[in-house]
Amino acid sequence: MITGDLVDRGEIGEYERLRELLAPLQMPVFLLPGNHDDRANLRRVFADHAYLPRDGFLQYTVDDWPVRLVVLDTHIPGAPGGRLCAERLAWLEARLAEEPQRPTVVAMHHPPFSSGLPLMDALGLEGGDELAAVLRRHSQVERVVCGHLHRPIVRRFAGTVACTCPSTTHQLALDLPPANRLAIVMEPPACMLHLWLGSAGGLVTHVSLIADEYPALVVHDGQGWVRDPQPPPGFHPS
Ligand SMILES: [Fe+2]
Repeated sequence: MITGDLVDRGEIGEYERLRELLAPLQMPVFLLPGNHDDRANLRRVFADHAYLPRDGFLQYTVDDWPVRLVVLDTHIPGAPGGRLCAERLAWLEARLAEEPQRPTVVAMHHPPFSSGLPLMDALGLEGGDELAAVLRRHSQVERVVCGHLHRPIVRRFAGTVACTCPSTTHQLALDLPPANRLAIVMEPPACMLHLWLGSAGGLVTHVSLIADEYPALVVHDGQGWVRDPQPPPGFHPS
C-alpha cells in the first residue's frame, strides 16, 4: 500500500514512470492519492488497477486477506492540506459497519493528528475530529496508516493507533520548536511492515530501512554469538 504523493506534480509522465518502478514487484500494490497527486491522471495510467473506483473519490476496500483494508481519499485539488468531508466519512462509516469483527487497517495520506512539526501541521487534515468520532464507534480498527510527513510518527487516536510512514525517498528533518524550518534531509529511505500475527498476536508494525544488504555483525547459534557463517556477498567482517 502506497499512502499517497505517488508522484510530485500529478503528471501523466510521472505516473508512467511510477508504473515502471512498480512493475518488478511480486506482491499486490494498492495506490491512494496524496496532495501531490491528480485523481484523473492516476486513474488513467493505472486503469488496470481494478480496485480504483471509476469516478468520485478514490476510496475502496480490500477484502481478500485476514486484515481488511479501508482506504480513504483526503485529496483537495491544488491544496497541500487534506480533507475528510461528510461524504467521505459517511462512506467510511458504512464500510466499517459491514465487517465489525474483521481486523481492519484504515489508510489515508494526511495524518489526522498534529505531529509537533508546526510547518507540516499547518498543511494538515480537515475533518480529523469527525474521523475520530467514526472510529470510536468501530473497535475493529487496528491501525490508521498515513503518509505525508516523511517520518515515522505514532499516536494513540480515537481508541486505535495512528501512524505515519517514512518516505521511500527523502525524509523531513525532525526540527521541533523553537526551530522553525522545513528541511529535506537524506536520512535513509524506509517503509513500514504491518505484520499480522493472528488474533492473539495482533498487528505488529516494523519500520524497515531500505538498503541492499544488512550485514550481521554476529549471529546467535542457539548457544552463543558466532561469526555469520553466510555473510552477504561482498561483506568481509574484519
Ligand atoms: Fe503529502
